[in-house]
Order: sequence, then structure tokens, then C-alpha cells
Amino acid sequence: MSFDLVLFGGTGDLAWRKLMPALFQAFRHGSLPAGGRILGVARDDLDDARYRSFIRSRFDEVDLAKRPSADEFERFGQMLGFVRMDLSQPADYARLSQRLAERQADTVVMYLATAPSLFTGVCEQLAAAGLNTARTRLVLEKPLGHDLASNRAINETVGRVLSEKQVFRIDHYLGKPSVQNLFALRFGNALFEPLWRRENIDHIQITIAEDLGVEKRGAFYDSTGALRDMVQNHALQLLCALAMEPPINAHADAIRDEKLKVLRSLKPWTAATLDGHAIRGQYTAGKVDGQPVRGYLDEPGVAPGSHTETFVALRAEIANWRWAGVPFYIRTGKRLAAREAHIVVNFRPAPHAIFGAPPGAANRLVIHLQPRDGLELHLLAQAQDGRQWERQTTPQLTPVSLDLDFDKRFGAERVGAYERLLLDVIDGRLNLFVRSDEQEEAWRWVEPLLAHWQAHPQGLRPYAAGTWGPSASSAMIARDGHCWTEER
Ligand code: BG6
Repeated sequence: MSFDLVLFGGTGDLAWRKLMPALFQAFRHGSLPAGGRILGVARDDLDDARYRSFIRSRFDEVDLAKRPSADEFERFGQMLGFVRMDLSQPADYARLSQRLAERQADTVVMYLATAPSLFTGVCEQLAAAGLNTARTRLVLEKPLGHDLASNRAINETVGRVLSEKQVFRIDHYLGKPSVQNLFALRFGNALFEPLWRRENIDHIQITIAEDLGVEKRGAFYDSTGALRDMVQNHALQLLCALAMEPPINAHADAIRDEKLKVLRSLKPWTAATLDGHAIRGQYTAGKVDGQPVRGYLDEPGVAPGSHTETFVALRAEIANWRWAGVPFYIRTGKRLAAREAHIVVNFRPAPHAIFGAPPGAANRLVIHLQPRDGLELHLLAQAQDGRQWERQTTPQLTPVSLDLDFDKRFGAERVGAYERLLLDVIDGRLNLFVRSDEQEEAWRWVEPLLAHWQAHPQGLRPYAAGTWGPSASSAMIARDGHCWTEER
């Protein structure tokens, strides 16, 4: 199967940091179909050879399991080409069209790794140049819009030029191996599904913590904030994977129909929950890994006195039979104490205690997303200390855990998120991509928060870089008698 992958934004950060390394890994693993071509598109004054050198030089800065040898890059580089384009110029699309007409690839992937403000314009121009054929697939990077209205505007334009099954909306969290394993755990094993409901689950925590700040993306981040950057997409997709009903099969629409139902069942915000169940913060100067770091307001590109949130903690509920009354806590932020993403499913304690156990002890399933990737099941076992046994009239239980490390089990050089998603686009598999209605529903749910925060900027709480966010986040969850679980 031959493919042409046109990478709009071909010299941008996303292209050289994530997409090219992922394509290279796929090439190295032998999974990139032979006969493929990757065309970078940008305004830069480059040609095929100089684009190859540009990508080669950037490879020194990226995280690759193993550096490419000269010969390896040479073979990969033969797939790379460059088309210089000003995306506002129709004539430049004609040039792209000519380049694509050099051969009739079976699949032509248009990957828009550009600013979202360009999405609609590029789609219209592609259509005007006749580049929206049955062979075309369109990949859209997040953020898709700024709010519901702008998201709809993009989806409507896209819908006019391509059918929904040609559109691949990326949420790279869905490509993470641990997230696929969450689907496997729930729908490939019979063990947990009967327990996976309000009768047995007390509450669920989703943490996506980053120790990095906004890096060089200050200006972008300042107009985005953590709610739009991480919650509207990544965190809500994780919540869907956790809460959805078993789909009737593993086809894209069966999965997406079930995720959509979860998003539609999210309890709407009320005047009380807008304040009580949603905490936002902004980092101030502090220390990360023992090194002093500046506060958000001193980051380049950030507007003076900005009220953009770099931390969010939410308490969500899903109003349906399976989940009524079970809190789902979501927390994400920049410049937190560690880079650490995990989900903790807290089961209810045994209904009647005949043993002694530490206070609050109950089963807990931890799904580690990163930096480690694995599953940990916390159980209670009979304490094996003989002397203690002698002294106690009531047998004492102690926490123990079953620990499955997927890196050890499947090898550290596993298929990364972007590699997996890019191969899915080339092969036309939509399972791990987000449908327009899911995205719109997620925007609909976060919009009241966006509006409330804009109207009440004083609710933003400072937190020192290198901590776990404002104390109000712990207070929010403590009101329900819980605390955030720090899982390493
Ligand atoms: C991106 C956000 O979608 O996800 C970034 O825009 C964030 O701000 C990144 O840093 C986190 O991804 P990961 O895979 O490193 O957890």
C-alpha cells in the first residue's frame, strides 16, 4: 500500500519533536509501509535535501530509544520531501497538487500540525485545489477550537469537504499503550467488569501531573490554560475509557458511541459546583528537582497579570445507573512535584470487618500511564509476622500489591503514542480518534467553567512550583473524606 503523508507545519516543534521521530520509529520497526513518502510543508526556504538535513539535525535533540546510524537515517531520509507553501496562497496548493500527482499514492494523509486558526482556511483551499478526494485522510491536532462555537465552525468546514470517516482528530493520550491496556483490561477480561460500578467503586482519581512549565509555548498557553489544554481532551477521554459501557464490538463507531454517552451523562455545573467542585491555580516561583524555577507570570510570552490557570482540579459525576453518586476527581497541572500520570480506582471496603486492618484500607487498582506503564492491584493480606500473630486476638491485615510492569513484560522499546496513531491513520483505523460529536460534547461540558472563571478571575489560587498544586485542591477532595493518592 503506498501513501503520501503531507505534514503541514513540517518545520514546527510538533513535527520534529514528535511526528518525525514517531515515523522514524515506525520505519525502524519495519511497520511503515514501504513505498511511502513524507512531504513536509512550510514557508521556510528549503528543498528536499535541505529538509532532510534539517530533520536529521533535529534528531539529535529528541528522545529516541536509539540514535539512528548514518545508513539508517539515509534510508529513512529517502522518504522525505519538502513543498514550500504559503498556506494563504491558492497557487501554492496547485504546486502541492502537482507534487502529489507525480504518483497516485493509494492514500494521501494531510496532517495539519499548524495553528488551529489555519484549519478552516487550509481545508477550504485543499478542496478548491481538488485535494479532497476519496483517497484523502485529514489529521487534525488539538486544540480544535477555543470553545464550542469555534470547534463547531471547524467541524462544519471539515464536514463540507470530507466525510467523517476521513477525519482523524488526534488525542495522543488515546495512543498511549497504558490507555489501550485500560480498554483491554475492561473489555478483554471478565474479572473486573462485574465490579466496575457504583456498588463496588467508591471513587476514581485521574492525575496528569507535569513537572515542566510552559517551556517556549508561553504565548500559546496563556490563551489556552490547563482546562482547554488537558481537561477538555486528554482527561475527559480517560474518563470516558473508564466509565463507558462495553461497546458491542471494537469498531470505531461502537467505541465512540459509548464514549459519547459518558460525555452526555456528565452532571452539568451548578452555581454551587462551579465554585465548590472546580479549583484552578497558577504556579509561582519554586523549586523543581531542587532547581529554582520562575513563576508563570515571568515566563516569556505570558501577559502581565495573566489569570490563565496552570492547574485544575475537578470533581465530576456521571449521572447514569452505573455511576450515580461516584465522584471522579481529575487533577492536572504544570510545574507540579513530578511528571506522573495515573488513574486510581478506589473500591469500597469490605462490608463487614472480621479482621483488623489499617483505617480506610480497601482494594485499589492503579493504572500507571507514565513515566512507568503498568497496573498495580492493592489487596489486603494476612500479616505474616509470627510474633504479631501471637499477640493479637484479631488477625491483622496488611496492604500488599500485585504489580504488573508493562515495560518489563513487553520490552521498553514499545510502540509510542504518535507512532501507533500515525500508523492507524495510514491504515485507516479510526478507533483511537475522536469523533466530532464527542469533541463538541466535551466543549459543552467545560464551557460553563470557562465562562465562570473568566467572570471571576479572583478565584485563581497561587501554588509554588514543585508542589502538588493549591491546597484548595486537597481541601476539595477532603470534604468527601478522601485524599489524592500519590502513586509512583
Ligand atoms: C499536550 C499539551 O496535549 O500534552 C501539553 O498541549 C502537555 O501542554 C502534553 O505538556 C502532555 O503530554 P504527555 O504525553 O507528555 O503527557
